[in-house]
Amino acid sequence: MNRGFDESWLEQLKAKNDIITVMSRYFSLQQKGKNYWACCPFHHEKTPSFCVNGYEQYYHCFGCKEHGDVITFIQKMESCDFMTAIEILAKNANMEIPTLHMDDNIKEKKHLKESILKILDLAYRHYEENLYKPISKKAQEYIKKRQLTKKELNKFHIGYSIDWTEIIKYLQSHGFKENEIVESGIAIKKDNRCYDAMGERLIFPIFNIHDECIGFSARSLEQTNYAKYKNSANNIVFDKSKNLYGINIVRKLKQEQQLNNVIIVEGQMDVISLNKAGFCNCVACLGTALTPLHSRMIKNLCDNVILALDGDSAGQKASIRTIDTLLEGGLNVKVVKIPEQKDPDEFIKAYGKDEFGKLIENAIDCVEFKIKNKMEQYDISKVGEKAKFIKSAIEIVNELNTNSEKEVYLDLIKKLTGVSVDTLKKDVVNNKNYGKNNERNLIYTEDAEIKAIKFVLASLCYKKEYANFEFDLSKYLINSTYLKLYNVLKDYSKRGDKFLISNLYDIFDVDNEPNIKDIINYNFELISNPIKYYEECVWKIRETYLKEKIKNLSEESVKLENINAKMDILKQIKELQNKLRNKILED
Ligand code: UTP
Ligand code: MN
Repeated sequence: MNRGFDESWLEQLKAKNDIITVMSRYFSLQQKGKNYWACCPFHHEKTPSFCVNGYEQYYHCFGCKEHGDVITFIQKMESCDFMTAIEILAKNANMEIPTLHMDDNIKEKKHLKESILKILDLAYRHYEENLYKPISKKAQEYIKKRQLTKKELNKFHIGYSIDWTEIIKYLQSHGFKENEIVESGIAIKKDNRCYDAMGERLIFPIFNIHDECIGFSARSLEQTNYAKYKNSANNIVFDKSKNLYGINIVRKLKQEQQLNNVIIVEGQMDVISLNKAGFCNCVACLGTALTPLHSRMIKNLCDNVILALDGDSAGQKASIRTIDTLLEGGLNVKVVKIPEQKDPDEFIKAYGKDEFGKLIENAIDCVEFKIKNKMEQYDISKVGEKAKFIKSAIEIVNELNTNSEKEVYLDLIKKLTGVSVDTLKKDVVNNKNYGKNNERNLIYTEDAEIKAIKFVLASLCYKKEYANFEFDLSKYLINSTYLKLYNVLKDYSKRGDKFLISNLYDIFDVDNEPNIKDIINYNFELISNPIKYYEECVWKIRETYLKEKIKNLSEESVKLENINAKMDILKQIKELQNKLRNKILED
């Protein structure tokens, strides 16, 4: 989808950003025949199934099915939106981004966003400088008490807000207006007075994946009646449901190919403590429950997560909800139970990093965690409660996708309750869902005509020498996606321009167009004699059309009273039948 950009501009942008060159900046690719191969950057694997077609300028992973052009690659790799990907690629190619398509509203938003980012950038650096001034003695004592070392303070750019107005004056001296400072979330306006929203607190800047400061979380230095932590309010650059503390550091690990899993914790102090202990692969939600957007953000970087929420009961309850969100996001989830109701920060301080490493190593599978967590809610020494536990444990098992997984956990329930697996299985079967995936595998045979259309279109897209536009398909294509594709291909051919598969990503929203996806992934290897098959397919399409027409005319003739009109139609039918018999392509 071109999203406001001129298709030919996008084509130029892509021509100047060769997909192989761009990808090589992130990982190495190996050429085998026409294609390049690598271990997929979007899912964890040991043997390469990520295939890049340098000529057609697109990629496809046979493992996780990710696919796209150089723009979607940047979007996924950098976890950024379409516009940012365009900006990155335009910068690479030294190209100006055309502004003509931006309406005033978008322009204004873009401007506001840019100025807020500038304000936040200035502010976090200033807060950070504050921390080391003599006036910040209280904050310095606090960080000592929390055992924060210079290394962590620098890495996380921790700062201090000295009082309630200083930052505002500082920003104003740099030319920013009061309303902009309020808009950025740094200041709050009340009774016509403006004051620092994070006044007299320790400042934890929050960075997005591109290392831009987008907001703050700020801790009070002592017990107060106010919240222990204050977070920036959501605005145009900051949205709690879309950001994770520490994500910028995790992304760097990913770029250095040093990311095997992501540890999810509750608070930013936990993230900092874990970093100090050498576990830099961790993130925290900012005082909210984990959302599907968070889950997707992590999934873009890594497939494996380890939940290490607080050991108290609130943390454990949150674990169950969080597990489900992560599983729905397609992540592999393990869970750590931190003893003595501690949080990771407290645990590391009490027992050291090696002990924490052991917890991580022994993280248990999330389904096992869910079952065991359920069990704690019942006293299974009592017959009635044991039965209730089995019932809810089976509900957990039923949510699993494969029978082999179900089998494994039934075995666990057996170990916990002593009830035989056979009996448990019967319960699962009674629950109807057992084997639901096998039932889903209904044999689905594709309509012969659709199959033919797909092959013809795929052959045209891939510029097979036997494919051409001699036989005009347009009147046979009822499906609007196919028709659009056919017309685009025909236009390219008429203009004598080279069509690339990567162009499809500018024209269609490929992810939501399964028909286009099938064509991109067309497996020509299954066709033993493509030249002959192409002819057969063209004929199949024509044949379907002729048969349909004959059928309609026959139906019409039956209804007719007028003998002349009837004869006329019968004549037409005869002609069509003749064409059908002699395989005539022309009308
Ligand atoms: P916790 O209360 O578990 O904080 O809240 P913590 O990490 O142990 O903090 P310390 O060790 O006392 O400094 C976890 C997270 O929830 C959010 C913060 O992001 C915090 O890191 N939170 C907590 C708030 O947003 N507001 C609050 O008042 C408290
Ligand atoms: Mn804590």
